[in-house]
Amino acid sequence: MSEGTPLLQASGISKRFGGVHALEDVDFGLAAGEVVALAGDNGAGKSTLIKIISGVFPPDGGTLFYQGSRVAFANPQDARARGIETIYQDLALADNLDVGANVFLGREPMTRRFGLPVIDRRRMRAEAAMTLDRLDIGLDRLDRPVSALSGGQRQCVAIGRALHWNARVLIMDEPTAALGVPEQRKVIALIQSLKAHGVGIVFISHNLADIFAVADRIVVLRRGTNAGERTRAATNPDEIVRLMVG
Ligand SMILES: Nc1ncnc2c1ncn2[C@@H]1O[C@H](COP(=O)(O)OP(=O)(O)OP(=O)(O)O)[C@@H](O)[C@H]1O
Ligand SMILES: [Mg+2]
Repeated sequence: MSEGTPLLQASGISKRFGGVHALEDVDFGLAAGEVVALAGDNGAGKSTLIKIISGVFPPDGGTLFYQGSRVAFANPQDARARGIETIYQDLALADNLDVGANVFLGREPMTRRFGLPVIDRRRMRAEAAMTLDRLDIGLDRLDRPVSALSGGQRQCVAIGRALHWNARVLIMDEPTAALGVPEQRKVIALIQSLKAHGVGIVFISHNLADIFAVADRIVVLRRGTNAGERTRAATNPDEIVRLMVG
């Protein structure tokens, strides 16, 4: 990709649900290695915008450019296969599977036993361990079901999965909501490490301290429209709140 081309660009995006204009003519851009926070009050359209970017549903209007080409994702698997990973606070992981299996969810390595294809669990855990190590995620055992993990550890596994599959874009919808303070710090540190790997990150949060801890740029939505955009260095929490409430 040539320098200056955004990794991702959404232009003039609109989306309605019945009579509700969830988004109207919204623009949003993201560069490689950039962390952009998406801020806005409840119902401002943040989740709707990232669902359009991650292939959950198509926009009613507007265009999406990714790595220089116009794209229309058929579904979230399609977006993921092209390097756009999304992490939701609750839906990120499969509870009944172990940590290794969650890193590989839907893309398990296969081997053959007695001539039959089976999932290569040993390789899965070994590779998952390597990835989690690379991120300095200290999980002692990868054969535990993720239901036994804390919220922060679950986030870390989901982030590890994004890194393992070389995500170019990572979208995090409220990743630090409901986490304890040390876990929030860990997730923030992981975001910084992914950024250093050149991943573009969209970070949705109601927590302005978290936003100011990680974001290079802050895009504010208000009632489904762009309410303003600032580099972190050029703004402060009071100004962001003013943009959010109008
Ligand atoms: N699937 C849906 N069906 C109907 N209306 C929806 C749907 N999803 C979102 N909306 C509406 O679209 C608007 C934007 O919602 P959205 O979830 O994008 O807001 P948000 O900024 O993520 O809010 P929050 O901070 O509360 O998560 C709201 O009025 C919401 O009620
Ligand atoms: Mg939301």
